[in-house]
Amino acid sequence: MQLEPSAEQLVVRDAVRDFAEAEVRPKAAAIDSEHAFPRDILRRAAELGLMGMLVPRQYGGAGLDHLSFTLAVEELARACASTAVIMDVHNSVASEPIVLFGSEPQKQRWLPALAGGSTLGGFALTEPGSGSDAAALNTSARRVGQDWVLNGTKVFITNVGEAGLYLVFARTAEEGAAGISAFLVPAESAGLKVGQVFRKMGLNGSVTGELVLEEAKVPAANLLGPEGGGFAIAMRALDSGRIGISGQALGIARAVLEGALDYTRRRHLSGRQVALDQGVSFVLADLATLLTAGRQLAHNAASLCSAGRPFTREAAMAKLFCTDLAMEVASQGLDLAGCHGYLSDQPFERHFRDAKALQIYEGTNQIQRLVIARSLLRGRP
Ligand code: CAA
Repeated sequence: MQLEPSAEQLVVRDAVRDFAEAEVRPKAAAIDSEHAFPRDILRRAAELGLMGMLVPRQYGGAGLDHLSFTLAVEELARACASTAVIMDVHNSVASEPIVLFGSEPQKQRWLPALAGGSTLGGFALTEPGSGSDAAALNTSARRVGQDWVLNGTKVFITNVGEAGLYLVFARTAEEGAAGISAFLVPAESAGLKVGQVFRKMGLNGSVTGELVLEEAKVPAANLLGPEGGGFAIAMRALDSGRIGISGQALGIARAVLEGALDYTRRRHLSGRQVALDQGVSFVLADLATLLTAGRQLAHNAASLCSAGRPFTREAAMAKLFCTDLAMEVASQGLDLAGCHGYLSDQPFERHFRDAKALQIYEGTNQIQRLVIARSLLRGRP
């Protein structure tokens, strides 16, 4: 399995790194403190092909593999985790399902706008009564003539109000996973509205909130995949999305580690660099080791995915390990910077707040353990 990026993948990584350093990182603190959705940055990201990374070239995308995508998300998250999650959700759970499950007319209709960045994507699975137990969702879809009519409320929707297209999961038949179907719901659909927009602990530049469907009408042609096939689409989307979240976690962790290295090298105690103190340098060594191990897990899952091999378990392992390590690095890195780390005008506390969300979304880390354990119990060691 490919764990080290190829020369082509490194070109992608370096281009995103240059963009992130020059155009994203300088704005990250203001994006956070002003809760500012980074429209200008996303426009530039689209010009660089970052909004269609997983979309084939024939539909206007960059046609890249998942390892390139993971590297790109890491670079963006190192600069600004809010920007990274917006771009990640758009690419992996909103756009890629159309590539994988869309009909030819659906691909032609939606992918160029998504890949070109003129339409932002959202993924609407979670509901007030169904989070971890996604198959318990209640939003309904009924067929009325040539339309589907949807009713229900979705919550914790990233990009809500900014997205032009939502991938919405709704119940078309009996209870359970087999009764769920997936729909492409344009933001301008009659009966679709944005509900409450939530204030969060971190990731303040990304919008998260409710999507309300009241007799929301979409044409029959907007059913994605087969009727009753929605749950498998959601799970496949999340498998891929969890690799992206791993990249996001790696980016946050790298930013903190670099910041901690810089701070402890510049800071002196009794005329000696703090970084040279064994108590400090051993912490730095442990954090760097975690980061390297996490990167191997994420790259393994990404390359399995690109190779068309099973990767559900590996994506869950990568998401679990990388997001836990991001929180660990964020916490320990902040400690190494002492009071300085706790100040709002320093990036440590932003990284700390941002990292927490990653252990929760795209499946809590308890859900990742459940996915891994089920896969083990099915027989593959
Ligand atoms: N790929 C394809 N199909 C899959 C699959 C996968 N990874 N996992 C399960 N399925 C299929 C199963 O094969 C099964 O089909 P059959 O009945 O035909 O065999 C069907 O789906 C049901 O599977 P399970 O019985 O395993 O399903 P379950 O109800 O026990 O739930 C779960 C499984 C893993 C717990 C799932 O509910 C889950 O992932 N929950 C977490 C939800 C989640 O991650 N939400 C994130 C919201 S989005 C978000 O956070 C994005 C954001 O904005 C940042």
